[in-house]
Amino acid sequence: MKTLAVMNEKGGVGKTNIVAHAGWYFAEQFRTLTIDLDQQANLTTTLGAHVSRTSSVDLFSEVTKVEPVGPLTVARSTRELLGIEGVDRAVIETFRDSLASMADDYDICIIDTPPALTNRTFGALLAADAVIAPIGMNDYSLQGVAELLRAIKGVAKYYNRPEPRFLGLLPSIFDRKSRRERDLFESLAEQLGQILFPGIVAKRDVYSRSAGEGQPVWNMKGAAARDAGNEIRGVFETVAAKMELGA
Ligand SMILES: Nc1ncnc2c1ncn2[C@@H]1O[C@H](COP(=O)(O)OP(=O)(O)OP(=O)(O)O)[C@@H](O)[C@H]1O
Ligand SMILES: [Mg+2]
Repeated sequence: MKTLAVMNEKGGVGKTNIVAHAGWYFAEQFRTLTIDLDQQANLTTTLGAHVSRTSSVDLFSEVTKVEPVGPLTVARSTRELLGIEGVDRAVIETFRDSLASMADDYDICIIDTPPALTNRTFGALLAADAVIAPIGMNDYSLQGVAELLRAIKGVAKYYNRPEPRFLGLLPSIFDRKSRRERDLFESLAEQLGQILFPGIVAKRDVYSRSAGEGQPVWNMKGAAARDAGNEIRGVFETVAAKMELGA
């Protein structure tokens, strides 16, 4: 099993949208597990048709496997996740060990994280083979990125393990019609080209419909949905190649 953590301290940058679509996409080919670590439970709601009996909080308390429900399985979020914060850091290692115990049960695991650097996000970092950071095209969204990169290094160093691969910053609600966003994107590409993911997810109304209907954009009708589907599937193709999935 290969594990991807989707992470950004900033809220509302499209993390959950990416995880939901990654779940639908990878489940076409792979035994796919998604883990909802955000007590807001947006992922659990969107992927409601695929929810396991196992709660994500259980993975922190003792070594636990998530019972698969089909090609796509969600370890669901509960408010009890808040209890993970402010307790002993040992829970982070238990979470890592829970994921390790499922190494042969799933091919890929994608973790949705809350918008904060907390025990839960550190657990995700400790378990991850790769990390991707969705970003909004605005200055605020970028401010947390240095902190995230420091956390990736810090967790690896503290636990004396190799760093997860950083797949890059992914503009994930990119409004191409906005001159300001296009300009910011250009300057980002110039300054941070090497840590920018080679792909984007454009801002499109069809994504809120997708969340409401619990369906990926590529299953929805209309030209906008088709364009969105091709675009976001291209992002996951690149992710799969970078993570050497199926290799
Ligand atoms: N590419 C997009 N185009 C249009 N709307 C989008 C896009 N991606 C996400 N959204 C919408 O923007 C809102 C925030 O997205 P999402 O919940 O995925 O962000 P998040 O980073 O997970 O937020 P949080 O930090 O609160 O968990 C949602 O209403 C979602 O439907
Ligand atoms: Mg979210």
